[in-house]
Amino acid sequence: LGSVRAGRICPQVARWVAQCVPQDVDFELETVDLRDYHLPYDDESALPAHVKDGAYEQPHTRAWSAKVASASGFVLLTPQYNWSFPAILKNAIDHLYHEWSGKPAVIVSYGSRGGGKAAGHLRQVLDGLRMRAVATMPALPLAGKPMVDGQLADPGAAFADCVPALEAAFRELGAELRAPVGTPSA
Ligand SMILES: Cc1cc2nc3c(=O)[nH]c(=O)nc-3n(C[C@H](O)[C@H](O)[C@H](O)COP(=O)(O)O)c2cc1C
Repeated sequence: LGSVRAGRICPQVARWVAQCVPQDVDFELETVDLRDYHLPYDDESALPAHVKDGAYEQPHTRAWSAKVASASGFVLLTPQYNWSFPAILKNAIDHLYHEWSGKPAVIVSYGSRGGGKAAGHLRQVLDGLRMRAVATMPALPLAGKPMVDGQLADPGAAFADCVPALEAAFRELGAELRAPVGTPSA
């Protein structure tokens, strides 16, 4: 979940996105909430890229490292904030290096017009980490979608047009997960 904001819609969107995983792909999704990982900016002295086997100085960094290291790939769900992705997500990414590197990822964005600028920035960051972001980047548009008490009234109706892109992205992720780390599947 790329948002920790009070009043966020991210968990609601994530629940709906997870329902769009086609039955013919053979991976399981686990929701990871950055609210469960408090990662200060200033308490690790080594460059993450120089830290081997999760041997960080702080227990919270080690916990985050273990969680990311345990995943074979990622679905990064990000809102668009001021034409980019949230600082909290960049901070969580920047705390680690080897735990991400070489692994595949799907970027799913949401925002007024789908959050494509956030997705584009995030893709550049993943490229820098030598991750394998799949080609399809579903972008879920919020503009004009009915809200009730700060949440989407009906995510399924709001994003019905996005289901084919989500299914395609998840199938691309499935193909990448079957390829050896560091080897593009196509
Ligand atoms: C600080 C901030 C900046 C935002 N900037 C944009 C933006 O540039 N483009 C956009 O489409 N929506 C923007 N929004 C609207 C968010 O995409 C929308 O509120 C979304 O629900 C945020 O996700 P969250 O509720 O899970 O935090 C912004 C929202 C916030 C809080």
